Amino acid sequence: MDHLLPPDIVEAGRTFPSALAACSDLDTLLRLKGAYVGREGSHAARLMDLLKLAPKEQKRELGAAINALKQQWEEGLKSRQAEMEARKRSRKAQTAGWDPSLPPPVPAQGALHPLNRLMDRLVEVFRPLGFHVEEGPEIETEAHNFDGLNIPEDHPAKASSDTFYLAAHPDLLLRTHTSPVQVRTLLRVAQDLGARGGIRFLSPGRVYRKDEIDPTHSPMFHQVEGMLVGHGIGMQHLKGTLEYALRALFGPHTEIRLRPSYFPFVEPGCEVDVSCPLCGAKGCRVCKGSGWVEILGAGLIHPKVLEYAGIDPAEWSGWAFGMGVERMAMMLSQTPDLRLFFENDQRFLKAMGGLD
Ligand code: PHE
Repeated sequence: MDHLLPPDIVEAGRTFPSALAACSDLDTLLRLKGAYVGREGSHAARLMDLLKLAPKEQKRELGAAINALKQQWEEGLKSRQAEMEARKRSRKAQTAGWDPSLPPPVPAQGALHPLNRLMDRLVEVFRPLGFHVEEGPEIETEAHNFDGLNIPEDHPAKASSDTFYLAAHPDLLLRTHTSPVQVRTLLRVAQDLGARGGIRFLSPGRVYRKDEIDPTHSPMFHQVEGMLVGHGIGMQHLKGTLEYALRALFGPHTEIRLRPSYFPFVEPGCEVDVSCPLCGAKGCRVCKGSGWVEILGAGLIHPKVLEYAGIDPAEWSGWAFGMGVERMAMMLSQTPDLRLFFENDQRFLKAMGGLD
């Protein structure tokens, strides 16, 4: 059969499969296509011319040979082209919307909430003095929240207008202060208080009161309770400890002053002011010109509180304090509105990085 065909076309037919395999992109493939089956000047076109000129008796045999060759080339080219286009499509799909030269996204870093950081700081100030952390539940009994703290039945704090009671369990409530942790801890350690030589702890946590929300009130806020029980403890120990702690927090030049006040669970009771850390007690907006800012309530543990826990007030005495965390955080950071601490605005929280 080959003897009827020009030798260069026979050679081209022999090398077609390898030429096809060597095509690595669509352009080369299209060029190959032009050379083999293109309309003009291609091997196929020349074969058709040859067929036209062939003697009649050869036409049938030659025609079949030419068709077989053309079909082989066309099919080969077609399937190779489809293969290339499919590969190109899948590459495009894989890389769509992805620019490998862009830097990878940096995941946002989490951080402790400014109120948690401030409470941690308080704990760290007291830790070297031998204080550990005690925790209590936010859902409390009336006994721990009121009775054990010598808060009388008719005290206004017990009213349902001030305290969240659980609808399904009217004897349970959301604790109104961290002081119930005093009661729980004293009850727990009463038996081996002697062996321990007393107790001292801090208790940070959430508390709840039925307060209308405004720039300085929230129905949920944080307190840090502090308590120490030992032998012969008096106001001088309370004052000395608070002076140490508040200077560690607000700076070495901070002065403190104790003003008499009343809480049923301490006697005597007091409120403690610090010299305004913002203006150096000269008088500013934060201290309302007075040079002093109220920071906590405190006092010597009432004998009734010790007795309730089974501790003999003739042998033991101690002090306790409770401070508002938001109040202190607002002052340190000069934040005018307490609600900012609960809105999770990233810009505020980032700016609060300066809190400690
Ligand atoms: N529990 C008091 C309050 O919430 C604060 C306090 C604690 C006062 C301990 C004295 C002693 O206001």
